[in-house]
Amino acid sequence: MSTTSADLLARLDAFRDATLAQLEAAASLEALEAVRTASVGRTRGALNDFKTQLPQLPAPERPAFGAKFNAVKVVLEHAIEERHAALTASRPAPAALDLSMPARRQWRGGKHPVTLVMEEIESIFRDLGFTIATGPEAEHEWYNFGALNFPPHHPAMDMHDTLYLEGGGLLRTHTSPVQIRTLQSYPPPIRIIAPGNVFRRDFFDASHAPMFAQIEGMAVDEGISFVDLKATLANFANRFFGQTITRFRPSFFPFTEPSAEMDVACRICNGSGCATCKQTGWVEILGCGMMHPNVLEAAGVDSERYSGWAFGMGPGRMALQRFGIPDIRLEYDSDIAFLEQFAQ
Ligand code: DAH
Repeated sequence: MSTTSADLLARLDAFRDATLAQLEAAASLEALEAVRTASVGRTRGALNDFKTQLPQLPAPERPAFGAKFNAVKVVLEHAIEERHAALTASRPAPAALDLSMPARRQWRGGKHPVTLVMEEIESIFRDLGFTIATGPEAEHEWYNFGALNFPPHHPAMDMHDTLYLEGGGLLRTHTSPVQIRTLQSYPPPIRIIAPGNVFRRDFFDASHAPMFAQIEGMAVDEGISFVDLKATLANFANRFFGQTITRFRPSFFPFTEPSAEMDVACRICNGSGCATCKQTGWVEILGCGMMHPNVLEAAGVDSERYSGWAFGMGPGRMALQRFGIPDIRLEYDSDIAFLEQFAQ
């Protein structure tokens, strides 16, 4: 029996009406979606079955059937859209916003404790009229040792456990070479501090690391004396630690004469003795002294006319004191739980 166009058109009408009725009856978005896939769905839709009949129709009847097919498809798709809009609009509103719910936790970045300490030291010295100077980390031996009055092969160089570079030069073992570079570039009067990283072949233990930060300080002018040095550093310690007791002990550095080390009363035990201060009640925070005339002369400064003082301090050590950190290796571990405590 051959399919007639009249037959097919009648079935197409019936299909359209049945589907429109199902759409009307669909009470949820899920039900609507089921009707859609079963009717106009690309793969499982019943409408497709009508299309496959097209080649069986006599050629002259095909255009009329094709037009009808497209019209039914448009009607159904339009009806699906409308039903979708109606069901969406009538969906119950989401539960009202509960403002008492705990907020989701925010992660906030913070500065490293050593950075915090360095910034504070810089700001105190800026207040006292010092400017910031810098120098290279890969340095010439002359700037690191020779110009600083280390005689060739002097045992003091052993103290520094130097990392030498292939092809000459070294990684600076201290920030003191910045003294020379600054004096070569600017005439006195000069007051600078020079923060930066320094490198030593030290083994890594609770109070030593192979790379650490230092802050160098230097004041050169006519008539500068040890009194200026003591007063400046004691003033600094009071500002940095809050009212604190300092003491100066005689020491030795090739680039200063006389030389001293400054201690502060241990903040962790208030001077009564603990592991951090090795039971002494004191913690060394810097080395200092009057600049050796040979150093001034090496940098091209007239040591008859000018004098100066210098110091070098370790902000890593100072952060231990300032924040009560028990082991310097914590400063290098990148442990979020540790670092988070310093986020401001
Ligand atoms: N450069 C010394 C060191 O790294 C620290 C130091 C001591 C620097 C005395 C100075 C100074 O400028 O006067 O151990």
